[in-house]
Amino acid sequence: MIQGAVLVKIILRDSCKETDWPLVAGILKSGGMSHYTPDIHRRAFENSHAAVFAFDGSSLVGFGRVISDGTYQAGLYDIAVAPEYQGRGIGAAMVKALLGKVKNCNVILYASPGKEKFYEKMGFRGMKTGMALFLDPKKMAETGFTE
Ligand SMILES: CC(C)(COP(=O)(O)OP(=O)(O)OC[C@H]1O[C@@H](n2cnc3c(N)ncnc32)[C@H](O)[C@@H]1OP(=O)(O)O)[C@@H](O)C(=O)NCCC(=O)NCCS
Repeated sequence: MIQGAVLVKIILRDSCKETDWPLVAGILKSGGMSHYTPDIHRRAFENSHAAVFAFDGSSLVGFGRVISDGTYQAGLYDIAVAPEYQGRGIGAAMVKALLGKVKNCNVILYASPGKEKFYEKMGFRGMKTGMALFLDPKKMAETGFTE
């Protein structure tokens, strides 16, 4: 895809080998998202149903993953684009690529507060009865995810 005079490749991968996991953690951190050690992100991506990575040349500039039973339920996680590459259609292209891997599934996610419109533009709608049992409920309430 060509956006903003930058040629960006969107790659769906079954294998996450050779991924720069410290950079993954760094991009998540810069996006204000939950971030862990590089090895924890490696395990999360490798154990997912599908993962997508966006590259500018050899530089990783975005990524995301979908977990799924592969049959009728799926959830999107860790969708992020490096700050200097945001607003060029990369996030939307990555989400579309992941949705293509779970075509027969209901797909849920929880958006970072303020990012709901990005997902609404892709057809997602707010859930009236969505509930979550978070590991750190206090933090999730303080950061605007729960009531
Ligand atoms: C949210 C994020 C993934 C969007 O990726 P992106 O590449 O910047 O978004 P795109 O350029 O593909 O935008 C697609 C559309 O969504 C809109 N959009 C993107 N972010 C938006 C926002 N925060 N609010 C409203 N609209 C937004 C764009 O304007 C565009 O609209 P258009 O199709 O009418 O032109 C990216 O901004 C990001 O990584 N943010 C930090 C991490 C984060 O919050 N991730 C989401 C976790 S749930």
